[in-house]
Amino acid sequence: MQVVSIINHKGGVGKTTLTANLGAGLAARGRRVLLLDLDSQASLTVSFFTPPEWAEQLLPERTIKHWFDGLDDGTALESPGGLVATPRRVREKLSRSPGRLDLIAAHRDLSDMDTILAAQLMSAPERFVDLHSRLRAGLEHPAFAEYDVALIDCAPNFGLIARNAVAASDLLLIPTKPDYLSTNGIDSLGLKIREFVDEYNARSLEQITRPPASVVFTMVQLHDDQPIEAQRAVMSRIEAGGVAPLSTTIRDSKAVYGPAPEYGVPVILGGTGRALTRELRDLVSEVSAQIDGTEGMAA
Ligand SMILES: Nc1ncnc2c1ncn2[C@@H]1O[C@H](COP(=O)(O)OP(=O)(O)O)[C@@H](O)[C@H]1O
Ligand SMILES: [Mg+2]
Repeated sequence: MQVVSIINHKGGVGKTTLTANLGAGLAARGRRVLLLDLDSQASLTVSFFTPPEWAEQLLPERTIKHWFDGLDDGTALESPGGLVATPRRVREKLSRSPGRLDLIAAHRDLSDMDTILAAQLMSAPERFVDLHSRLRAGLEHPAFAEYDVALIDCAPNFGLIARNAVAASDLLLIPTKPDYLSTNGIDSLGLKIREFVDEYNARSLEQITRPPASVVFTMVQLHDDQPIEAQRAVMSRIEAGGVAPLSTTIRDSKAVYGPAPEYGVPVILGGTGRALTRELRDLVSEVSAQIDGTEGMAA
């Protein structure tokens, strides 16, 4: 299984929208996809399940928090597959595809848990690897061997849980709006990721590789099918910098992206033929190629 984290310490840059569409798009192409929602705001979870479904069927015992709790007391690792839920509306849409889309839901207390784990690390720095390798170890469980790809939707921070995602990942996608303030943090995020991987490897016998990272431009404003001048300037600057962007970009369309989560079916599985859907499919192709590339590297 290849693990891809969708990560940016900024909020509102399109992480969750990208995760949902990429997951659904890969599943429509026959891949078996597992989504992990690491954000206590649970936007990804409620893009596939209704809020009552989340509250009644998932929150009590099937969330990513239960996974972390279980790793503390040794229970979850026996059956982490039990945390997985299959969203009904997407399953119906995908009924003719051999692919599948499953999800491990978020929990409201995830951000508190992040703080608690950070406090544990402060008081016991020798537990660095233990505390940062929980997702990595968990995803290696045989229960997940049936998946081709795991997509991890991170919270808008670079806390201990997001670092767990980096340690588990083969590939990182960094969605960003092409405006000055949004792109401003990308270099510092890249630096923090590098520092984290270096520290992990300095403390661990088992070394991890720093996952290759790509920027994904989201909410791109088009005029005559080209990004508007102000955005194009920012995009060129990123292209010249340290983290290469994907060549496919996601256009700005509040009217299309805004309502989709409420229907429980990502935009990519909706109407065909629209330029907007084509662009999402191109994005899936580009990420697919990257996933296959990292697999080749690992083999
Ligand atoms: N390409 C887009 N065009 C317009 N609005 C978008 C686009 N992508 C996401 N949005 C909207 O922007 C808001 C933030 O998106 P979201 O994916 O939740 O970002 P994040 O996970 O980074 O916080 C949501 O209301 C979403 O509907
Ligand atoms: Mg989000």
